[in-house]
Amino acid sequence: MILRNAQILFNKPMSTELYHLGLLCPDIAVSIQPGQFVMVRIRDSFDPLLRRPFAIHRLYPNDPPGSLEILYKVVGKGTRLLTTMQPGNSVNLLGPLGRGFRFPNDNGFVLLVAGGIGIAPLPYLAETLAAHKHKGPFVLWFGGKTSGDLVCVQHFKDLGFAVEIVTEDGSIGRKGLVTEHLEPWLIQQDELPKVIYSCGPYPMQRSIAEMAARLRISSQLSMEALMGCGVGACLSCSLRCRPPQGAADPHYANVCQNGPVFDGEEIIWE
Ligand SMILES: Cc1cc2nc3c(=O)[nH]c(=O)nc-3n(C[C@H](O)[C@H](O)[C@H](O)COP(=O)(O)OP(=O)(O)OC[C@H]3O[C@@H](n4cnc5c(N)ncnc54)[C@H](O)[C@@H]3O)c2cc1C
Ligand code: FES
Repeated sequence: MILRNAQILFNKPMSTELYHLGLLCPDIAVSIQPGQFVMVRIRDSFDPLLRRPFAIHRLYPNDPPGSLEILYKVVGKGTRLLTTMQPGNSVNLLGPLGRGFRFPNDNGFVLLVAGGIGIAPLPYLAETLAAHKHKGPFVLWFGGKTSGDLVCVQHFKDLGFAVEIVTEDGSIGRKGLVTEHLEPWLIQQDELPKVIYSCGPYPMQRSIAEMAARLRISSQLSMEALMGCGVGACLSCSLRCRPPQGAADPHYANVCQNGPVFDGEEIIWE
């Protein structure tokens, strides 16, 4: 875990509430894995006091060397302040943090699922899986409230992914929720993936875990939680999980240390 100032390379609006933030931080970029995250201190003052967690969206090893990108959605004070930061300013990063996605011994069907800003960690995961010589097929199911939520689609297509879009208002793609359409589609496929990689809101993650259990597929879910410290000290991010092997009682895992990526079967859904 490293604490470093990172220079802002770009801070580009993709829509009214989504921004791509480019940061130069070779020490973190060299070791961070897909699904891990950084805690960002946006400015050197008491307001906002706490760092904010963000996943790594993409790495740019050569452009310039050691740069990385975050995709953030403006939801409150910290992210609003982030929109005012200019190239040449710095933020302070703590990372790499947490346990990212794991890659089972399989080189076939790759299935990613994203809900809204849950798309944030998936391009880095997709690039890594594509580079691991998976045969495919490569498929992303991406759901949002409306068409404006659906960013980065062309990037996935460029990586060779088929992208299945679902919006709640039906403005683009299928109408409804990803979880309503994904299971009937999966059942029609010749082959099932060994694992579903998913990031999105809690109800979506729960449906994905339940569907994966019905279809006997494993699921790796990047879970959201309110985080105070990011390093296991404040216990603000606890998630109720099934008893570890040999134990009788459920336990509380820290999303910041034991996650954010969990096997769907580990979680006790509330
Ligand atoms: C491991 C991890 C990775 C994340 N990666 C990304 C990312 O790549 N891009 C991105 O846009 N966001 C990401 N988030 C969520 C992001 O950290 C919060 O949106 C951000 O901290 C909000 O800060 P704020 O000061 O703008 O909002 P605040 O003023 O702190 O809060 C505004 C509202 O957002 C809610 N909120 C704040 N944090 C969270 C959270 N973690 N989960 C659910 N609701 C929350 C609050 O309850 C409140 O209603 C991630 C969260 C975690 C735990
Ligand atoms: S954020 Fe403090 S323990 Fe997880």
